[in-house]
Amino acid sequence: MDFTPEIKDKLNQLQQKYTAMGQDMASYLDGLLYADFLTYWDYIHLDTLLSLQSPKTPIPDEEIFIMYHQITELYFKLCLHECRQIAEHENLTVAFFTARVKRINAYFNALTTSFEVMVDGMEKEQFLKFRMSLLPASGFQSGQYRMIEICATDFIRLVDKSKREELKTATIEEQFEYIYWKFGATELASGKQTLTLKQFIKKYAAQFLQLAKDRSLTNFSALFHQLQASGADVSALAEELRKLDLYVNVEWPLSHYKSAVRYLEKDPVDVAATGGTNWQKYLPPRFQKRIFYPFLWNNDQMEEWGKGWVLSVLKTLKSKD
Ligand code: HEM
Repeated sequence: MDFTPEIKDKLNQLQQKYTAMGQDMASYLDGLLYADFLTYWDYIHLDTLLSLQSPKTPIPDEEIFIMYHQITELYFKLCLHECRQIAEHENLTVAFFTARVKRINAYFNALTTSFEVMVDGMEKEQFLKFRMSLLPASGFQSGQYRMIEICATDFIRLVDKSKREELKTATIEEQFEYIYWKFGATELASGKQTLTLKQFIKKYAAQFLQLAKDRSLTNFSALFHQLQASGADVSALAEELRKLDLYVNVEWPLSHYKSAVRYLEKDPVDVAATGGTNWQKYLPPRFQKRIFYPFLWNNDQMEEWGKGWVLSVLKTLKSKD
């Protein structure tokens, strides 16, 4: 059988490629000859993926809880993949930056709209049982969630609002002492750090500090200002960053808060048993006012941050009961 001109051309190109690298093309062709065909299940490591659900109890709805957390962490990983591409781009343009933030927004949109899987997708009775076998673990310990925040904004924006002004020119290490989430997962009764929080800090502090330093000039805020200063038209980018601010700091936290309210609010004994944390004071966005891009909002918008939403969420939940 004769080779078509296209195949001959490809073989020539391959020969050039391998010669340039000092490699023997015939050996690589041998490799092709014996290599197995790729399958879908091997390519995406499907068997491994589907073996990663190990409930701690025989209660059926626990599997839903595990899988939805895993789905969320994969979406967080997709977000961080985009964060890295933006931060490490050698010649960042507004168009590239905007397109990639759009992707992150699509991921957060998927996460926000799918949260019903948690809010309505498990039996409360089952949840309250299996949750007790998972202590002191909490989604609070999601390191990727905190990394997205570090990539998205200037580190000072993640400092608790009571300390932000004072620590404006402090070092990253000093600012980290007052990062907002150290005021969550604290014991309601004593105000002390819970084991959940202590373990989280022990595992991730060094990684967070390193990332914060790496992103000091390449977080989204810093990059936005650099592009703006270069005279580029940043209006489309500003729009996507505003959406991101709302997704990460209002909409996702509220979808999540809805779950906490549904499963934990009604029974003070069970609330205490989650580790007795201050979640009711800590989780609602209107209390925290986490805002990545204050320069993209007016004072009224920041004043009202998360308020209307919280009220409407609470009303819907009350009318369901
Ligand atoms: C029924 C479902 C859920 C309930 C009842 C719930 C409850 C809570 C509570 C009470 C907290 C406050 C910290 C604590 O007291 O432990 C918290 C924090 C958190 N949870 Fe969940 N959670 C649920 C699902 C999820 C899911 C699916 C994720 C996805 C990874 C998640 C991620 C987080 C994160 C990132 C925080 C920290 C939020 C912040 O610092 O503002 N949670 N959760």
